[in-house]
Amino acid sequence: MSNERRDAEYTMGRTQSETDRLIKQSQLYDNVTRRFFLNSGITNGMKVLDVGSGAGDVAITLADFVGEQGRVIGVDVNPDVLETAKNRAVAAGHKNIEFIAGDIRTLDLPNDFDAVAGRLVLMYMADPVEALRHLTTLVKPGGIVAFQEADFSPYQSTLHADSPLINDLIEWGKAVFDKSGAHTEMGMDLYRVFVDAGLPEPTLHFETPMGGPPDWPGFAYLENSFRSILPLIEKYEIATAEQIDVDTLAERIQKEVAASKRPVMLPPHITAHVVLPS
Ligand SMILES: C[S@@+](CC[C@H](N)C(=O)[O-])C[C@H]1O[C@@H](n2cnc3c(N)ncnc32)[C@H](O)[C@@H]1O
Repeated sequence: MSNERRDAEYTMGRTQSETDRLIKQSQLYDNVTRRFFLNSGITNGMKVLDVGSGAGDVAITLADFVGEQGRVIGVDVNPDVLETAKNRAVAAGHKNIEFIAGDIRTLDLPNDFDAVAGRLVLMYMADPVEALRHLTTLVKPGGIVAFQEADFSPYQSTLHADSPLINDLIEWGKAVFDKSGAHTEMGMDLYRVFVDAGLPEPTLHFETPMGGPPDWPGFAYLENSFRSILPLIEKYEIATAEQIDVDTLAERIQKEVAASKRPVMLPPHITAHVVLPS
C-alpha cells in the first residue's frame, strides 16, 4: 500500500446547504480577509488569481480591492459551486470577475498575475508545497502571494469542564477533518509551506471570530457546519446523529456559553503573505 498523501475527501460535502454555509462563513471572516488583503498590498488595477473560489466570496472581496481597472480570475474544481459564484458576482455588480472550472494545479493559466490569493484551500491539497510552487510561477516578479488557512490546534487550550458540548464538538470536528485527509494545522504550517516552496519568509497574522451574545451569527454557523460534516462523521463512526442532534445545536451551544460565561471560538485563521523579489 502506498504511503503517498492523497487530496482530502472534501470534508464539507457539495450540497446547496454547504454552498449557503460558505456564504455565511464568509460574512463571519470577511473583516479578517479584508484586513489581510489590505496588509498584503493587493490594490487598484491588479490582476489577481483566486484559488479555490467556492461560492465566490473571496473573488468578490478581491474585486473591491482591484476596482474596475483590475481583474479577478477565480478557479474551483467544483463547477456547480461556480454557478452560484458567477450569479453572485453579477448580482454584486462586478463585471471584472471570471470563474473557471478546473484543478488549480493543472489548469492552463497565464503567468502574468499581480497576485495569487486563496482561503481555506491549501488544507485540502495532498501537497500544498508543490501547489504553492506551481501557483507562484503564475505570478509576475514583485507580485504578491497571500493565503488564509484554518488551524485547529489552538482549540486545545480552550477545552474546559464548564463547556462539555463545545469540548465534544471540538473533538468530533477535528476527528472528521483529520480522517478526511484535510490538513487541520494548515495555518501554522503556512510558514513552512511558503519557505519549502522557495518563497521568502511570510508575514503572518492570527485571527478568529468569537462569541458571544445570543444574536451572534456564529452559533447558526456552527450548526450549519456540523450539518455539512454530519455525513462524514457518521461514515467514520466518530459520533451518531442522535449525539449531535444538529437541529438544536445552535441553541444548545448558545445556552452553554450563557451558562458558563465562556465564549466559543470559530476555527482560528492564520494569514500569510509575501511580496516576490522583483
Ligand atoms: C472551504 S472552500 C473555500 C471557498 C472560498 N475560498 C471561501 O473561503 O469562501 C474550498 C474550495 O476549494 C476548492 N478546491 C479544493 N481543492 C481544489 C483544487 N485543487 N483546485 C481548485 N479548487 C479546489 C473546493 O472545491 C472548495 O470549493
